[in-house]
Amino acid sequence: MSFSFTDQRVLVVGGSSGIGEAAARSFAEAGAQVLIASRSQSRLDTAAGRIGHGTRTAVLDATDNAAVEAFFADAGSFDHVVVSAAQTRGGPVRTLPLADAYAGMDSKFWGAYRIARAARINERGSLTLVSGFLSVRPGAAVLQGAINAAVESLGRGLALELAPQKVRVNTVSPGLIASPLWDGMDAAARQAMYDKAAATLPARAVGRPEDVANAIVYLAATPYATGSTVLVDGGGTIA
Ligand SMILES: NC(=O)c1ccc[n+]([C@@H]2O[C@H](COP(=O)([O-])OP(=O)(O)OC[C@H]3O[C@@H](n4cnc5c(N)ncnc54)[C@H](OP(=O)(O)O)[C@@H]3O)[C@@H](O)[C@H]2O)c1
Repeated sequence: MSFSFTDQRVLVVGGSSGIGEAAARSFAEAGAQVLIASRSQSRLDTAAGRIGHGTRTAVLDATDNAAVEAFFADAGSFDHVVVSAAQTRGGPVRTLPLADAYAGMDSKFWGAYRIARAARINERGSLTLVSGFLSVRPGAAVLQGAINAAVESLGRGLALELAPQKVRVNTVSPGLIASPLWDGMDAAARQAMYDKAAATLPARAVGRPEDVANAIVYLAATPYATGSTVLVDGGGTIA
């Protein structure tokens, strides 16, 4: 099934890389006027060049509330807003410095919260958040699990709060996705992680940003979808 977003305004915060970039490309290919936002103008320019379709860019740091408010006051309203922006450092609760733990929550949870609070979304439009399957399968990533669970709960609550404005809110929860998120890892260790996932996950594959983008576009395009958390995790939650 193909979706049409002709002439609709779509904002993807975190659209300069990975899942956000793939979502931006899907919306642009479906006819939307796409604006991608993140902290780095050079990353945005490179991604906009890859996406094409007249994709526009805006520098925005989701941890800076004054900047978030000023951006939305200036940018006008959108039909669909996607938040895939995040930078979180992992580690055991007992050893990860508290400042890093707070920074992770500030980036991913409070970033989504700030955007949800300030964004102007048109009637019949949508907000889509990105969490992660660690919300229900934390493994050793306790903090990431807690952040993702908070994001999913935020999405469900907002779906009720924004219902009177006829704005739908959903969350997509990815499993392991081969994206630039993992660029900081040693290349051999990263490949071993991907190989292990492809050998053991029920889907027998590593996720691609496009897999998650499919779910984001489906949720934005589907008038009956709200309050949902859609897993795109290769079956990682049930494995
Ligand atoms: N990849 C995975 O395996 C995986 C699994 C589960 C969940 N997820 C979640 O999926 C989401 C997207 O991940 P990804 O794989 O696409 O990561 P990615 O490739 O690292 O992309 C992250 C994006 O967020 C932007 N960003 C980071 N901090 C920001 C901030 N404070 N304000 C605005 N933009 C910011 C980055 O651009 P700038 O650097 O230019 O700011 C970049 O565009 C994240 O929430 C991640 O936790 C990913």
